[in-house]
Amino acid sequence: MKTNLQLKTLCLIVLTNILLAGEGCASEQPGSSSSPQPALKDVFKKDFLIGMAVNNNVVCGNDVNAAAIVEKHCNTLTAENVMKWGPIHPEPNRYNFEPADRFVEFGQNNKMFIIGHTLVWHHQTPKWVFEDNANKPMTRDAMLSRMKDHIFTVVGRYKGKVGGWDVVNEALDDNGELRKSKWFETIGEDFIEKAFEYAHEADPDAELYYNEYNNEKPGKLEGCVRLIRKLKAKGLRIDGVGLQAHSDMNYPSKKELEGFFAAMKPLGVKVMITELDVSVFPWVDWFAMRKIDFNDVNERKKFNPYPSGLPDEVQQKLADRYAELFSEYVKHADQIDRVTFWGVYDKTSWLNMGRSNYPLLLDKK
Ligand code: XIL
Repeated sequence: MKTNLQLKTLCLIVLTNILLAGEGCASEQPGSSSSPQPALKDVFKKDFLIGMAVNNNVVCGNDVNAAAIVEKHCNTLTAENVMKWGPIHPEPNRYNFEPADRFVEFGQNNKMFIIGHTLVWHHQTPKWVFEDNANKPMTRDAMLSRMKDHIFTVVGRYKGKVGGWDVVNEALDDNGELRKSKWFETIGEDFIEKAFEYAHEADPDAELYYNEYNNEKPGKLEGCVRLIRKLKAKGLRIDGVGLQAHSDMNYPSKKELEGFFAAMKPLGVKVMITELDVSVFPWVDWFAMRKIDFNDVNERKKFNPYPSGLPDEVQQKLADRYAELFSEYVKHADQIDRVTFWGVYDKTSWLNMGRSNYPLLLDKK
């Protein structure tokens, strides 16, 4: 049994090697024998799968460096956007399968465990989904049948190819109560059960997950436990809970992470680290970010302090922080199936939001 310190040191060596290597990562040829860097999927082979969320450019050949990184390091793959309701089902009678097909093809060609993200969510879901032909709110029955039709169509198309689905995403409020989303308001609290039921019917072999952010925090964690217990009590298939793991330099604390793993253990579900990134800034949400005036020098200093690169000292802190998180993951490897980064490299991370952030292992180049 390795001690915490040994684990942390091991993780620090591997991750620092990648984080601090700079542009060498992106220009390096995959499979090149002179490559100084081990593949993450090999380093963590005994512990969990390693994945990244990819955008369209990665899988369709527009970003070959990013594709090479994914091919080298990953044995599991998540769709960053193309399988969400809006992109894949933009209008009532129109599906846009092409980008999702290419994503699945890329994963299959590289023999990766493919994750479908996500079937039921309150974001990136068009307005029409919640309205009938007369632009009036849907009835419960009509909404359920629309949801079933969507799940059957999407899951059915990738049956046997997508290994696991984030069936429902972010259904809880910070206090652990069900979020008052249109799904909840139109169908009622069993919308989650119904989504799991339909997904299982559509592909009985696919793994099914509930995915959430900040579910290491008290309140939401308890809500998450209640929800999983309920789904299990109803005899529904649920294989895992996704911990999105959008992290920063302090959050989540070790104690919060430990609490999460301890709470999941008795539930008989696996844990998926589904959207890992580490912001060097404290969290500011999308709406607040949009209001920041980056032309104003003071605002810029405050919200975009490292426009042209991370100072070495912060870079080292980031490496330490990644090592700390990975040492926790390795410690709980018996519960964790996979660790997926939310993106491939800093340039394309969703966390930039108009400024330069450095949340992934691979830098802008
Ligand atoms: C983000 C994508 O990364 C962005 O490209 C998109 O504009 C918005 O959504 N939680 C989730 C992910 O479950 O689907 C989100 O992805 C990030 C937060």
